[in-house]
Amino acid sequence: AKFDLIITNGKVVSASDISTCCIGVKDGKIRTLVDSFDPEEMEGARVIDAQGAYVMPGGIDAHVHLCQDLKTGPHGLGGECSDNFETGSKSAAAGGTTTIITFATQTRAEEDRSLLHVVKAYNARAEATGSYVDYGFHIIIVRNDADVLEEEMSVLMKDWGISSCKLFLTYETQRLTDSQLLDVMFAAKKNSMTTMIHAENGDMIQWLTVKQLCNNAHECSEKLESKGMVAPYYHALSRPPLVEGEATNRAIALAQLIQNPILFVHVGSALGAANVRRAQTMGLPVYAETCPQYFHLTWEDLKRFHSPTCFENSKMICSPPPPPDTSDQEELFVGLENGTFTIYSSDHCPFRYDHPNGKPSGVLEDAASMEGEHHCTGKELQSLLERKQGAFRLIPNGIPGVETRLPLLYTGALSTGRITPQKFVELTSTNPAKLYGLYPKKGAIMPGSDADFVIWHPEEAFQSFKLTNDMLHHNVDYTPYEGMEFSNWPRYTILRGQVIWEDGKIQGKVGDGEYLKRGPSQLVRGVSKATKDPRCVAGWLYE
Ligand code: URP
Ligand code: ZN
Ligand code: ZN
Ligand code: ZN
Repeated sequence: AKFDLIITNGKVVSASDISTCCIGVKDGKIRTLVDSFDPEEMEGARVIDAQGAYVMPGGIDAHVHLCQDLKTGPHGLGGECSDNFETGSKSAAAGGTTTIITFATQTRAEEDRSLLHVVKAYNARAEATGSYVDYGFHIIIVRNDADVLEEEMSVLMKDWGISSCKLFLTYETQRLTDSQLLDVMFAAKKNSMTTMIHAENGDMIQWLTVKQLCNNAHECSEKLESKGMVAPYYHALSRPPLVEGEATNRAIALAQLIQNPILFVHVGSALGAANVRRAQTMGLPVYAETCPQYFHLTWEDLKRFHSPTCFENSKMICSPPPPPDTSDQEELFVGLENGTFTIYSSDHCPFRYDHPNGKPSGVLEDAASMEGEHHCTGKELQSLLERKQGAFRLIPNGIPGVETRLPLLYTGALSTGRITPQKFVELTSTNPAKLYGLYPKKGAIMPGSDADFVIWHPEEAFQSFKLTNDMLHHNVDYTPYEGMEFSNWPRYTILRGQVIWEDGKIQGKVGDGEYLKRGPSQLVRGVSKATKDPRCVAGWLYE
């Protein structure tokens, strides 16, 4: 057969155009885009009639936490990611995503000194189950050992195709000092790696939260914990938008000194977005990611369940927290529309609610220090909650969302006309591919590109529905979007020419996904005046 798969009748969307055309696929690659095929060309091919619906390049979710275990946790607060590569990637496929980039996490334990050791360990976790979709790794770096940065960054880049590292400005077990951040940024710059920044000011958070810092004998009665403000809701109050505001500004200045590209992950505040915008206007290679939770949740959702102090509200705890109210969301929408936000990822960080290694894990350890009442019924939670109410400081941060990412953006922004279909593709596929060095293998519908697609339902034929967690494929016992009405859902997900999700059913196999070696970022171009100004930057570093 000339083609293995033919897609007819679609509105084929790229980051710049929409065209009504047919797509011919052979051996996993897109071969041609044409007005129509002759009948003999179609012989032997599977034909999918898109019925006038959008056909987009498969979703690329560049921020997914899988297999981060108790020891590391995604943020040093303990807790076990409940999704491994099997369940997490299945969930991705069912939500229209064909590529995930997950995190290999260094810790400060001596055996994790070597970044290569860390990557091999995470790769073994991926290979232990296999994946339904293609996958790659970012490396999280939590120390600045000169020899490791010197010797291993280039190997990560060359042998593993890992072209991005994530650095933290918060979390005791992860955060780097400014000087350490400069060390790693400098090494990243020399190896053409993009630096991802978790921008929250850890000192501000601690100062607002903890009545007594370890190096301070004074017990301050005004802090959240001294006032008994420890319920999940206060997690948000311990992280007002200024926490992200300060950290984004500082990281921009550090990156400007080093002249390296940075990507702010999970930007959740209007203040953070404004700082990013200002840096971009100066011509700096500063990029930003945002996530569904910042458009669909607010501080109010941290009080949603039962009473405002109920532990069940821990289901909504993520960092940065959702914005205070809908006016912040409106400003974030502007950032989606005007290009401040480069990519839209899930930050899928799966913890079970009713499980001792899930949301209650940190609380169990420190239960003795907490008092309060509760209304929850979960079986494993009983022993915890009979004793104490959870303090937000100890609750693992993160919420699930790899499967709902594209449908939420469709429902909240595309259906409502806030963004165009092209913008949708740019944010969810084309830009993540370019930013992380996968383009045009991924993120494009062009001859030669991988035949990865998400095909939606034709809008007039689709009945909107209310989501319940049992419809999802992750190994998490809740979704923050329970009961929400969705206006569309992926009808087909296609990975390198193979249908892996069709009309509500998984059709792929867990071994279908392949490891992706990535190249350097393809978004960074040229050198702007702002990266050469001697008043701001140390250009002689590179002479
Ligand atoms: O709360 C969040 N975002 N958890 C995931 C870990 C991270 O910082 O991305
Ligand atoms: Zn983070
Ligand atoms: Zn994350
Ligand atoms: Zn309750």
